[in-house]
Amino acid sequence: MLELLLTTIWLLLPAYTPNNFAVIFGGGMPIDLGKKFIDGKRVLGDGKTIRGFVFGVVGGVFCGVLQYHIEAILGIRYFSGIDVNSAIFLFFLLSFGSLFGDVFGSFIKRRVGIERGKSFPVFDQLTFLLFAYIFAYAFSPYFLTLFTKNVILAGILITPALHLGVNYIAYKLGLKDVPW
Ligand code: CTP
Ligand code: MG
Repeated sequence: MLELLLTTIWLLLPAYTPNNFAVIFGGGMPIDLGKKFIDGKRVLGDGKTIRGFVFGVVGGVFCGVLQYHIEAILGIRYFSGIDVNSAIFLFFLLSFGSLFGDVFGSFIKRRVGIERGKSFPVFDQLTFLLFAYIFAYAFSPYFLTLFTKNVILAGILITPALHLGVNYIAYKLGLKDVPW
C-alpha cells in the first residue's frame, strides 16, 4: 500500500512539478494574448502565461531527468528501466500534458463563468492529471509498462489531496494569492 503510494508519487512527479514551476516562473504575456472568446469572456485569462507554460514544461522534463539519475544512484528501476531518449520523451509528454490540461481547465472555467484564480473543485485538481495520462498513453509505448492500472487509479485518488496540500504550502510561502 505504502509502496504503491510512493511509486505513484514518484512516477507522477514529472506531471506534478510543471505546475509549481509555472507558479514560480510564470508572469508576463498571457497565452491568449489578452483576447476574448466569442462569449465576450477571456479565452484563458491572465493566470495562464507563455513564460509559465514554457518554464513549466522545461521544469517537468528537468525533474524527470533528475529522477532518472537518482534512480541510477539508488539502484532502483522505474524510469531508468527504459532508454534515456524514450524516458525524456515520456517526461515531456507527462509535463506538456499536465500544462495542456491546466490550460484546458482554464478554458472551461472561463466558459462557465468562473473568474481567473477562483476555485473550480475537482476540475482544478484533476484535469491536468487526466491530460498527462492521455498524452503519455497516446504517444509513449512505455506508459502502460510503468503506469500499471493500480498506479493510474492511485494517481486519480491521491492527486486532489496532494494538489490542495502543495497549493496551501505555496500560499503560506506567499507564492500564491489563494490557498487552492
Ligand atoms: N501560471 C502561469 N502560467 C501558466 C500556469 C500558471 O504563469 N501556464 C502562474 C500564474 O501566475 C497563475 C499561478 O501560476 O496565477 C497559479 O496557477 P493556476 O492556479 O493554475 O492559475 P489561476 O490564476 O488560478 O487561473 P485559473 O482560474 O485560470 O486556473
Ligand atoms: Mg488556481
